[in-house]
Amino acid sequence: MKIEKILHSRRKMIDFHKIPFGNYFSDHMFYSEFKNKEWKNSKITPFKNIEFSPKTLVFHYGQAVFEGMKAYKDHNEEVFLFRPEDNFKRMNKSARRLEMPNIPKHIFMNGLKKLIDLDRDWIPRKYGQSLYIRPFLIATDGALSARPSKNYLFMIISTPSDIYYQYPLKIKIEERYSRSASGGIGFTKAAGNYASSFYPTRIAQKEGFDQILWTDSSTHTIIEELGTMNVFFLLKKKLITPLANENILNGITCKSLLSLAKKEGLKTEERVLTVSEIIEGLKKGYLQEAFGCGTAVVINYFQKISYKKEDFYLPNLPDKKRISLFLRKKLLDIQHNLSEDYFGWRLKLERFL
Ligand code: PLP
Ligand code: COI
Repeated sequence: MKIEKILHSRRKMIDFHKIPFGNYFSDHMFYSEFKNKEWKNSKITPFKNIEFSPKTLVFHYGQAVFEGMKAYKDHNEEVFLFRPEDNFKRMNKSARRLEMPNIPKHIFMNGLKKLIDLDRDWIPRKYGQSLYIRPFLIATDGALSARPSKNYLFMIISTPSDIYYQYPLKIKIEERYSRSASGGIGFTKAAGNYASSFYPTRIAQKEGFDQILWTDSSTHTIIEELGTMNVFFLLKKKLITPLANENILNGITCKSLLSLAKKEGLKTEERVLTVSEIIEGLKKGYLQEAFGCGTAVVINYFQKISYKKEDFYLPNLPDKKRISLFLRKKLLDIQHNLSEDYFGWRLKLERFL
């Protein structure tokens, strides 16, 4: 792989005390092209603009998928990627559904490891902070015919980040719009899934909510996800999350929290979860906690849930009693190499360069 290093790093210009999510990008990027049915031209270059003709397919039909993952530092400046192979597999699952070529594992993993090794200085040290890594794949044919592209570009860029946002969430249970539908692409990380969620989310925000609790598109009675997160409810001391189906992005944070919760002796369930159960739990007081989880946000708990214009408040528990915060610490401790890696989730980054 060709590596072209920057002459002067921009790193010193960034104050790691103030790193809003996705604002600053590290010095380098990874790049690989799919042409004539082959992956070629893999390289690392300085982070820079890329140029495409206005007729490029991705601009018109949105054939684009991406991933979101993180690298963490420990006290000894060692760097760890968190479950990167899970992101690799999910990226290819998304690509297949969008009729895009699979990325070979060695291209994804070598590109990722060498890029992050080169930009080690961009990984913040503070607990909870990390380098957010964004692999993405786009269709690059210059053509307006509505068909899958023959040429593609796979890239990886990264951005030092704090947790995306963190405050108790006000949630609206969605009854009009949907994030995904049966037979659709809800289980993929396709760019279009995000584009289609912006309008309903903006409406909810104008109404005073932070996020939408997505429900199934045909009946709006079954809970699916929360904004760009998976969701958990603590009902009668059982931690329940909707079973990942074709409408739901199977989150790596969600899978990790389920494993951690089980290890800590909590009762967990992955199953169909209805809106009426949640509302009954809120009315009768046995819904103890609810939270969203994802790579960017880690974990955010709910303060209020609104359904058919009626507001329900969750118990105002002290932090020490919150399962969400307990699990958040367990997860971050593993990610920052502060506790044993029971599940083999950390991948220590070698020094290549
Ligand atoms: N659901 C959606 C729609 C998302 O965008 C994300 C974020 O990636 C998640 C769930 C959580 O997935 P993960 O924990 O793998 O980041
Ligand atoms: C993530 O948690 O990685 C996400 O994908 C959220 C992102 C869309 C901001």
